[in-house]
Amino acid sequence: MKIEELQSLVEQRRSIRGYDEKRDVSDATIRTILNCARWAPSGGNGQPWEFVIVRERATRHRIADYYLKQMEQKREMDMAVRGTAKMTGDGFRHAPVHILILGDPRVKEAYPIRTKLEKAESHFITGLANATLLIHLAAVALGLASQYVSDANSPYMETMLKVLLKIPEPLRIYHLVPIGFAKSQVAAPPRRELNEMLHYESYAMGNFRSDEQMMGFVKTRTLQGAYGRRGGAEGDEKD
Ligand SMILES: Cc1cc2nc3c(=O)[nH]c(=O)nc-3n(C[C@H](O)[C@H](O)[C@H](O)COP(=O)(O)O)c2cc1C
Repeated sequence: MKIEELQSLVEQRRSIRGYDEKRDVSDATIRTILNCARWAPSGGNGQPWEFVIVRERATRHRIADYYLKQMEQKREMDMAVRGTAKMTGDGFRHAPVHILILGDPRVKEAYPIRTKLEKAESHFITGLANATLLIHLAAVALGLASQYVSDANSPYMETMLKVLLKIPEPLRIYHLVPIGFAKSQVAAPPRRELNEMLHYESYAMGNFRSDEQMMGFVKTRTLQGAYGRRGGAEGDEKD
């Protein structure tokens, strides 16, 4: 693969929140995607991931209903503190495949003792994040749409999903990634310019952002801010 192809792939990947329920994704395609994910780097090569593939419509809708229920509390908290909240985000119920990414914390035994003591959790999560990103990239390479549903590991949703899908202890739910075909394309959310984040040889204080600049950035260039309130696809969610 040429670097231009990789650049194009990473720029094409979007978080898609609306799916075409009529277009299915084959088992072979899902296996191709997960065959990429299993090559993700992980702390101590512990490979903490397991994947639950859900296709049944009733189960997908049950999952989305749990999502909506836990969202009530999340929305209430944002409304109380910020006076605004924009969190629908159950469009993923229409994606023909839900991949639930699980992590097995017992792999923490693969880490050196000091690592285990000081950063076992962060290594564990980083491995799961790497596998998840590869799922998204593989999906784009196959012309498919995907998104993160990170609330899958909120206490209520994780508990309910573990019962629904018979997930044993001590496995943990990381994220849910729906896979399907986008109902419509969405514009790329803004990215910071490369030069703003580069520091050659030592930290370039000219690029250091003051607290005011950081708040301005959050308010205008992130989902929390103005563009998040203005735009966004159907079922868009702040996260
Ligand atoms: C850790 C993490 C959690 C996220 N959680 C959600 C989520 O629960 N729902 C959602 O729709 N998007 C979620 N996102 C997607 C981000 O909102 C998205 O990546 C960002 O707005 C940039 O948009 P893009 O992915 O289209 O480039 C999450 C992304 C990450 C990395």
